[in-house]
Amino acid sequence: MKLLLLLLLTFLQSHETGAYLGYGYMGRSLSDEIIGGKESKPHSRPYMAFLDIKRRKRNSSCGGFLIRRDFVMTAAHCAGYSITVILGAHNIKYSERTWQILKVKHQFPHPEYNVENVLNDIMLLQLENKANLTKAVNILPLGSRYNSVSPGQECLAVGWGRTGLIPPGSDTLQEVELTLRNSSDCKGFKDFDERSQLCVGNPNSRKSVFKGDSGGPLVCSGVAQGIVSYGKSKPPSVFTRIVHYSSWIYQILKAN
Ligand SMILES: *[C@@H]1O[C@H](CO)[C@@H](O)[C@H](O)[C@H]1NC(C)=O
Ligand SMILES: *[C@@H]1O[C@H](CO)[C@@H](O)[C@H](O)[C@H]1NC(C)=O
Ligand SMILES: *[C@@H]1O[C@H](CO)[C@@H](O)[C@H](O)[C@H]1NC(C)=O
Repeated sequence: MKLLLLLLLTFLQSHETGAYLGYGYMGRSLSDEIIGGKESKPHSRPYMAFLDIKRRKRNSSCGGFLIRRDFVMTAAHCAGYSITVILGAHNIKYSERTWQILKVKHQFPHPEYNVENVLNDIMLLQLENKANLTKAVNILPLGSRYNSVSPGQECLAVGWGRTGLIPPGSDTLQEVELTLRNSSDCKGFKDFDERSQLCVGNPNSRKSVFKGDSGGPLVCSGVAQGIVSYGKSKPPSVFTRIVHYSSWIYQILKAN
């Protein structure tokens, strides 16, 4: 399965790193293959949300995941002036009866999200209406202090890895198992912060290469532990560590 992946270099160009956004093309493109990845069984990841993002300069797309009937979690760098969420999708090109299309009423990017160093890359999206829970649409529980993660653990990353240049094979949901790494493996990223980020993907294994859309989840033992944030063309990649933001998340969910 060959996917041409666009590595978007937005604010990170000088660091040789890029956010894994979809659609819009803003920098150089990288050809790559998801070697260890595979197409997800349709609707087997019912928490996945496809985000259609309108921006002034370039429209784009991201992944996200449903955490309450009216809330989706994603990365802060996926913000735009307007976002539409598609739930219950497998092939994003073909509208299916399982789809639920919902407008985002309010975007809550983390107040300390930093465009320069990409710290606190987490955002909550409040939907205008509640999603209906079905076989194809469901909630992903968030990790808490009680389900800690540690290096060596195998987790699942899921995303559309949408490309826009090569049509076949790139419109369906993809998934790959990735290993959590020791923080020292991410020392190549000068702004990596182990308190608030996870280092994901074995640098020695081409198998673990993964480029999905930004904002997608890292699922470990059935709960969301990370959010795809940024990386280089090879593993490891940097994911936002969700547990670090538990109290911020709780406050927003409680107040809305
Ligand atoms: C983004 O999409 C909207 C609606 O689909 C379109 O009107 C607009 O021109 C697009 N913007 C850019 C920058 O492509
Ligand atoms: C949920 O189901 C109700 C009742 O069938 C329907 O009116 C509503 O549009 C559905 N919501 C979504 C987001 O599809
Ligand atoms: C993880 O990295 C730290 C340094 O960041 C090192 O001290 C420690 O031994 C490493 N642990 C493992 C299991 O490799």
